[in-house]
Amino acid sequence: TRPLRIAPSILSADFSRLGDEVKAIVEGGADYIHVDVMDGHFVPNISFGAPVMKSIRGVTDKVFDVHLMIAPADPYLADFARSGADIITVHAEAGPHLHRSLQAIRALGKKAGVALNPATPVSAIQHVIDDCDLVLIMSVNPGFGGQGFIPESLAKLRQARALIGGRDIDLEVDGGVTADNARAIVDAGANVLVAGSSVYGGNDPKAYAGRIKAIREA
Ligand code: DX5
Ligand code: ZN
Repeated sequence: TRPLRIAPSILSADFSRLGDEVKAIVEGGADYIHVDVMDGHFVPNISFGAPVMKSIRGVTDKVFDVHLMIAPADPYLADFARSGADIITVHAEAGPHLHRSLQAIRALGKKAGVALNPATPVSAIQHVIDDCDLVLIMSVNPGFGGQGFIPESLAKLRQARALIGGRDIDLEVDGGVTADNARAIVDAGANVLVAGSSVYGGNDPKAYAGRIKAIREA
C-alpha cells in the first residue's frame, strides 16, 4: 500500500497572509499542498491562478498538488508547470482530449492527475489509466470548500482502487474530508486526503497541527 498523504487545501486559507498560512500547515505536518484553481466557468467560483501559486513556491519544498478546475486546461499547463506545480490534475469532464492533456503534463516533466466529478463513472478513465500518476475522486461538487462528503464516493473509491490495481498511482479524495470519515475513506482505498475546512476552518494557525494529526491518526 502507498503511504498516506494529508494535503490541506489552501482554498480555505486566509489569503491576506497566504505565505504564513502555507508555512503553518507545513510546520503542522502537511505532506502535500493542495492548490485549487477555479475559473468561474468549469465551476461556479473563481479562486486564483498561477501567479498566486508562484508567490508561495518559495515558502516550502513540499509537493504542490495542483487541482485545475478550469476548461480548457491545456493552454495553461505550461504556465502552472513553470510556476511550481509538481502534480497537475485536470478534470476528465474539462475537455474532449483527456489523453492529450495527460501526455502534455508528463511532457512538461510533471506528474499527471485526472479528477472525476461525483456523477462521472470510474470507467471514464479506464483507457487512460496508464497515462496517470494520480486519480482524484471528488467527494463534493467542485467549486467550494466546506461542503458535506457524498457517501457514494466510498463505493467509487473502491472501484477506482480496483482499476488502479498494482500500478504506481496515488488515489486522492477531495471534499468534505474530516477526522470522522478519514478511516472509512482510507479503508475504501484512498491514500491522499485533501482537507480544506477541516484544517483551515477558523484560520487559527495554532490549531492546524492538531487537526492534521487527528486526520492522520483516524
Ligand atoms: C472543492 C475543492 C476542494 C476543497 C475542499 O472544489 O476542490 O479541494 O477546497 O474543501 P473541504 O475540505 O472544505 O471540502
Ligand atoms: Zn481540490
